[in-house]
Amino acid sequence: MSEIIRAPKGLAGVITDDTTISKVMPSTNSLTYSGYAVQDLAEHTSFEEVAYLMVNGELPNAEQLDEFNAKEKQYRSIHEDVKKAIRLFPKEAHPMDFLRTGVSFLGMLDDRVWDNSSETNMDKYIRLLAKIPTIAAYSYRHSIGEDFIDPVASLSFSENFFNMCFGQVPAEAVVKAFDVSLILYAEHSFNASTFTTRVITSTTSDMYSAICGGIGALKGPLHGGANEMVMHMMKEIDDPSKAKEWMLDALANKKKVMGFGHRVYRSGDSRVPTMHKYAQKMAEYTGETKWMDMYEALKNTMLEEKGIYPNLDFPAGPAYYMMGFPIDFFTPIFVMARITGWCAHIMEQTANNRIIRPLSAYTGVAQREVRPLEQR
Ligand code: COA
Repeated sequence: MSEIIRAPKGLAGVITDDTTISKVMPSTNSLTYSGYAVQDLAEHTSFEEVAYLMVNGELPNAEQLDEFNAKEKQYRSIHEDVKKAIRLFPKEAHPMDFLRTGVSFLGMLDDRVWDNSSETNMDKYIRLLAKIPTIAAYSYRHSIGEDFIDPVASLSFSENFFNMCFGQVPAEAVVKAFDVSLILYAEHSFNASTFTTRVITSTTSDMYSAICGGIGALKGPLHGGANEMVMHMMKEIDDPSKAKEWMLDALANKKKVMGFGHRVYRSGDSRVPTMHKYAQKMAEYTGETKWMDMYEALKNTMLEEKGIYPNLDFPAGPAYYMMGFPIDFFTPIFVMARITGWCAHIMEQTANNRIIRPLSAYTGVAQREVRPLEQR
């Protein structure tokens, strides 16, 4: 080690490694996955195509997509023992804890858990991609005391998730809005949960352990948990005509308002215009304009007062609510999408690894002698 560098708190503004997976460009409020603009992917591809792109660096051709989809569909069901475990979960526990425990169980059932070769990791990735929605949907059914609905191979990734949760596939507009949200949530460079997965991977631990860590990091309201907090906030305000006053009061009391601000984007989140468009479509579809009216009032007041822009969680929260999902399942949906980015980063870290091990500056008491118990 040559020089010791003091990094800013929260590693703000620090580049810790190279990546080819995605590029966040705050100066132009843009985001690309392997060079493709995220809003183009959202409009012109399916989530399955993006899931392929994330770990292969190229969009699939028809044959490659068929092969990828066939594997994903084949892996959707989960082991009987995981089903039994879900039935034992406390119904009132948070669904992110269901998911973290479910993924941990999948790891214990995989006899290749220690095999971090790229071939095996690619297979583990498709398994996780396929099984996480099943764990999330079964957990939802368990939490409301209903029987599980098994995955259906003839349905797309998003259609199958709706079917496993609600026993039916909604209108195309709803499925498309959901698919778009997954594409937008798929990847975002070295955010807190992705960095967590890379730290765990850097110790040469296994993919399941890294994903459990990622789920733990994403759960926090300063990160993925914000989409749930946005909807709790909107429900608390309840009336769009009260939104401005609510925001002024929150700012006067120096509250952090969920769904606003971003470590990297300072003048707008690249993903918000697309998600806003699809949240608006959900309002048109449901005929319920209340949440998007409130969205406008909160956004405008925040911009006027503080110049702080909404992040992706702000339109995603009401969009998921209008699709019929319970609020505490919003962050598990985020996991269903971000598993793609996490696994791509896990494989990238594995391919060119050095253990991530920073230093700390000690600010505790000076070195001292241990006195025997009777003298203390
Ligand atoms: N509500 C109110 N004020 C906010 C704010 C918010 N959501 N986000 C940032 N600010 C203010 C801070 O209070 C700070 O003001 P100050 O300089 O007067 O102290 C300034 O903007 C800079 O914010 P800071 O907390 O230093 O930014 P950060 O990069 O450390 O944190 C977030 C980024 C995302 C964690 C932060 O904006 C936040 O907590 N947002 C709400 C949670 C959220 O939506 N998370 C999802 C992220 S995608």
